[in-house]
Amino acid sequence: MDGQVRDALEAAARASLRAPSVFNTQPWSWRVDGRFMELRGDRTRRLAVTDPESRLLLLSCGTALHHARVALAAAGWTADVERLPDARQPDVLARIRMTGRGDADPFAVRLADAIIRRRTDRRAYGERRVPPQTLTRLAFLVEAEGAHLHVVPDERVPELAVAVDEAADVEYFDPAYRGELNRWTHRPAWTGDGVPPSTAVRPSLRRVPARNHLPGGTAGLPAGPGGDEGAVYAVLHGHDSSPLHLLRGGEALSAVLLYATDQQISTCPSSEAVEVPWPRRLLRRLLADAGEPYLIVRLGYVDSGAAPPPSPRRPARETVELTGWQ
Ligand SMILES: Cc1cc2nc3c(=O)[nH]c(=O)nc-3n(C[C@H](O)[C@H](O)[C@H](O)COP(=O)(O)O)c2cc1C
Repeated sequence: MDGQVRDALEAAARASLRAPSVFNTQPWSWRVDGRFMELRGDRTRRLAVTDPESRLLLLSCGTALHHARVALAAAGWTADVERLPDARQPDVLARIRMTGRGDADPFAVRLADAIIRRRTDRRAYGERRVPPQTLTRLAFLVEAEGAHLHVVPDERVPELAVAVDEAADVEYFDPAYRGELNRWTHRPAWTGDGVPPSTAVRPSLRRVPARNHLPGGTAGLPAGPGGDEGAVYAVLHGHDSSPLHLLRGGEALSAVLLYATDQQISTCPSSEAVEVPWPRRLLRRLLADAGEPYLIVRLGYVDSGAAPPPSPRRPARETVELTGWQ
C-alpha cells in the first residue's frame, strides 16, 4: 500500500508539471514523501519586473496544485489539502496528504485527460460562441475553488480593451519589462521553460489586444481565422490579494482551463491588465469593486488549423524531489 501511495503521489506531481504558468516560468517544485507531497513556490523564478508582488507566481503555483489534485482524484485517491500549512515557511504553499482509496472520480478523469491536451491558444478565435450553459458551469467550478468568474458583457468589452491597451503601452515603453520579456521568449532549449516563438502570434486587429510576446520578432502562429468576434472574456477574481486567495485563484484558473479543454474550447489567460496598477483599477471598476481581479481568460473556438504546439517543461528531476524513498 505504501508503495502505491508513493507512486500515486509521484505520478500526480509529474502530471502537475504541465500546468500553465506566467511566461512559462514554472515557479514551483514538489517534495514527495512516502505519505504526502509538498508544493513550494520558487521565488528565484519570480518575474521581478512583471510580477514584483508574486501575484502571478502564486496563481501559477495554484494551477499546479489543482492539476495534482485532479490527477489524484482521477486515480481514485482521496486527499486532504492544507494550504500555507506553516507560517514560518511561507514558500511551502500546500501539503497534500492521502486519506484513502476509492473509485476514480469520472469528472476528474475527464479533467485529467485534458491536462496533456490543454494549450494556451493565442490565436484570434472565430465567431462561434461558447454556450451560456458552459459559462455557467465554468462559473460554478470557479466558485467551488473559492474564487469568482465574471463574464464581461459585450457592451463592456471596450472598457476591458482600454485596460489591456493601457497596460501594454506602459510595459512596452519600459526597457526593464522588454528585457524580461525578451529573456523569457528567447530561452535555450535545455532550460525547458519560457514562451517559444512557435506558440506566439503576430499582432492583429482584435477587440482586445493580445500580449505581443515578440516585438519586432517573428511569431510562429498565424493570427487566426477571424477577428476574435466570438471570443468570451471573463475576469477571474477573488476576495483579496493574500497568498491564500491567489493560490486558490490559480486552482480556479486550472479548473476553467481544463474543463474548457474537455469541452473543445480554446483558452488563453491574459494578465497584462493586472500587471500595472492603473489598468488593474479599471478592471476593479469593471467588477463594480466586487472583488480583486486576478486575470482575464479568453475563451472561444478556432475552427481551422492544427492546435498550437506544446510548450516545453522543465524535467521532473529538477522539479520533483523524492524523499524518504526506500
Ligand atoms: C498567471 C498566468 C498569467 C498568464 N498571462 C498570460 C498573458 O498575459 N498572455 C498570454 O498569452 N499567456 C499568458 N499565460 C499563459 C502562459 O504563457 C502559458 O501557460 C505558458 O507559456 C505555458 O504554455 P501552455 O499554457 O500552452 O502550456 C499566463 C498563464 C498564467 C498561469
